[in-house]
Amino acid sequence: MNELEAILVEHLVAHGPIGFDEYVDHALYTPDLGFYAAGGGAGRRRDFLTSPEVGPLFGAVLAGALDSWWDELGCPDPFPVVEAGAGPGTLARTILAAGPRCASALSLVLVEAAEVQWSTHPAGVSSRTDLPAPGELGTGPVVVLANELLDNLPFGLVELADGGWCEVAVAASGTEGPAGSGRLVEVLVPLEPRRAAWCWGKAGRDAAVGTRLPVQAAAAGWLDDALELAAGGRVVVIDYAATTRELARRPWTEWVRTYAAHGRGADPLRDPGSCDITVEVAVDQLATVAEPDRDRDQATFLRAHGIDALVAEGAARWRELGAAGGLPAIAGRSRVHEADALTDPTGLGAFRVLEWHA
Ligand SMILES: C[S@@+](CC[C@H](N)C(=O)[O-])C[C@H]1O[C@@H](n2cnc3c(N)ncnc32)[C@H](O)[C@@H]1O
Repeated sequence: MNELEAILVEHLVAHGPIGFDEYVDHALYTPDLGFYAAGGGAGRRRDFLTSPEVGPLFGAVLAGALDSWWDELGCPDPFPVVEAGAGPGTLARTILAAGPRCASALSLVLVEAAEVQWSTHPAGVSSRTDLPAPGELGTGPVVVLANELLDNLPFGLVELADGGWCEVAVAASGTEGPAGSGRLVEVLVPLEPRRAAWCWGKAGRDAAVGTRLPVQAAAAGWLDDALELAAGGRVVVIDYAATTRELARRPWTEWVRTYAAHGRGADPLRDPGSCDITVEVAVDQLATVAEPDRDRDQATFLRAHGIDALVAEGAARWRELGAAGGLPAIAGRSRVHEADALTDPTGLGAFRVLEWHA
């Protein structure tokens, strides 16, 4: 049993089961022991690749997107942009390296809950662990950007059992297992009628016994806060997403995923803190806060913001200079491969880009 599991088991024995959302919170963010709090996360040398970690192209496209949003807002100066769930700051670094037109007005604020992620903090930006309060960044509009944050916010799980809808809670099994076998188990706790009615509404009356749904109250709460902060600006969320109804019709092990060391991990209750625990974002649950003004896939979003022109420019640089052109020419050539990965319809290209005009 690892240290975090031992702490959780002791707590569960003393106080009884906790919700799956509380379990995820502990497994990811317990100081020093949770997956992110202990330094796990995005990056080639870490656990999984996100779009900013594919290479600098994603940041270059986002730099262009920021310029277009800055224009739309009437070129405010300062232009506060909050990147929430910034991880090691790679997106911020690549946006700045691309030299956006708005650079002289841009005030980048990186929000990252797990401070240990800042081992390589990008220069020229401020950072903090929580979302600024409304008005804290001035009275003008704010752009709030979150790439693969919402899938990492704690989420609950419910299941349709024989007797009706239940919350999936986490308890200690009470039996001594062999080392590494784990003592955390799921228990089903019947839901009160109002919450069960919500589940029927989301899953549909034809839902089969065994159907599971995610409950993403923390993601909805984050959106509410972000919209208030943006005040006249916009909130842009990029993530893997679906509707609750679609998720209800798929095995839950497909949409709750664990990752570690660039591979899929095991059962989320095994070795808490050793792997990331993520969930596909239920767009309809966010829409109860506010309907997005725009919802398109990442490939479409990146094309609308000039990825093809950046790839063509990179390829031309490589043709003109070849290896003699050094790193800039090689970076130009690699844009072709980065674009393939970022727009792949079976991978990152299928992520949703949700935009709200606050
Ligand atoms: C999957 S990583 C994405 C990192 C980065 N955005 C990227 O695309 O590479 C999610 C990050 O969000 C952070 N995080 C989780 N909850 C947060 C919160 N409430 N506020 C700020 N950051 C949070 C995690 O610590 C983690 O670094």
